[in-house]
Amino acid sequence: MAEQKQFVGQAEFAKGLEGVIACESTMGYVDGKEGKLIYRGYDIFELAEHSTFEETSYLLLFGKLPSQSELDDFKQKLVQQRAVPKEVINALKIVAKTAHPMASLRTGVSVLGAMDKNAEDESIENYTSIGISLIAKMATIAGAITRFRKGKKPVDPDPKLDHTANFLYMMNGQKPDDYTARVMDVSLILHADHGMNASTFSSMVVASSMSDMYSAITAGIASLKGSLHGGANEQVMHMLDEIGSVDKVDAWVDDAIATKKKLMGFGHRVYKAYDPRATILGEYSQKITEAHGRKDLYDMAKRMEDKVIAAYGERGIFPNVDFYSGTIYSAFGIETALFTPIFAVSRISGWAGRVIEYVTENRLFRPRAVYTGEMEAKYVPMAQR
Ligand code: SDX
Repeated sequence: MAEQKQFVGQAEFAKGLEGVIACESTMGYVDGKEGKLIYRGYDIFELAEHSTFEETSYLLLFGKLPSQSELDDFKQKLVQQRAVPKEVINALKIVAKTAHPMASLRTGVSVLGAMDKNAEDESIENYTSIGISLIAKMATIAGAITRFRKGKKPVDPDPKLDHTANFLYMMNGQKPDDYTARVMDVSLILHADHGMNASTFSSMVVASSMSDMYSAITAGIASLKGSLHGGANEQVMHMLDEIGSVDKVDAWVDDAIATKKKLMGFGHRVYKAYDPRATILGEYSQKITEAHGRKDLYDMAKRMEDKVIAAYGERGIFPNVDFYSGTIYSAFGIETALFTPIFAVSRISGWAGRVIEYVTENRLFRPRAVYTGEMEAKYVPMAQR
């Protein structure tokens, strides 16, 4: 029988919604051809040089750069919102030792939502207030997970430290030097928003049914965990560990190409040029790895980059944001499994901003599928099967 295809609606069929426009937004734009990224009109290179993660989060949530008093007020709100209920810490204590840190992060946010009696208040004001709370608390939860994995107690937030310095303090139990805090802050700026990526889209799909902000963000964490998405930064580190030294890179990459292996940290659904975030992170990687006696990591990564671009550059496959980030975190002594939670500590601002933007003029996401199955199957009683 001719293959049945039931085309419905007017939209073209695009597997993985590749190239499909799902909404309008003023949050940010990714120019895949030119390798440009802007947040609310500001180029990522400008924000990475001049802004902070707190200021960039304000920009993403409210659509403009804050005045000094607006920034001070926003930072104060983040400080006030850092602490998490003991029920969240208790839940993390149960799971954090053995679960993947992204599963622990997902659990922590889920418990947080279960403890918030206002979670189901669908007002934009409440979505915004929960968004700000989650920007503050994502760092606290990730910090607690890090400590539990080390067999240590969580560190209480220090109200005197800025957001990123406090995040590092809650992870390590010691206050970071200014340069380390600045590099991590730039990395959080770079990871904050990126158009309709899988995790942001997941958050928006959940929010579009008028569920709630915690459920939406839990969905975002769940999606970011995947190795094709945020989980790639962890996989890049495993790849470099497997290669072991710069003189082994060529043979490893030749074999990966010959066996059509997916190279973690390379390629992108939108960028067919060099990911601008990888440009900035690559420069920091060179400095930080050298300063921390891990120049070998950068040398391997750079060698790999050159080799892969030589092989795949013509097909638009270049390093993406996940390629160099892990070399920096590793040089800082951060456990590889914590790399993707760090991504979430940043992307919470983009998730929250885009959820709030979308639900303001909400429309339930509900695509269709091309049906290629039977159309007139006849029910067969069990005795005749
Ligand atoms: C992030 O979307 C976002 O904005 C995400 C993100 C954000 O900020 O939110 O930028 C963060 O997730 C970055 C991407 C992290 N993931 C990885 O590094 C995993 C490795 N990359 C690939 O799996 C892949 O590049 C994707 C998943 C990222 C994008 O893949 P697509 O758009 O689905 O492209 P594809 O898999 O269809 O590949 C097209 C061709 C294929 O070859 P053919 O089958 O046509 O011969 O390119 C090849 C692929 O095999 N290809 C790769 C490759 N990426 C694409 N081949 C080897 N290694 C790769 N990394």
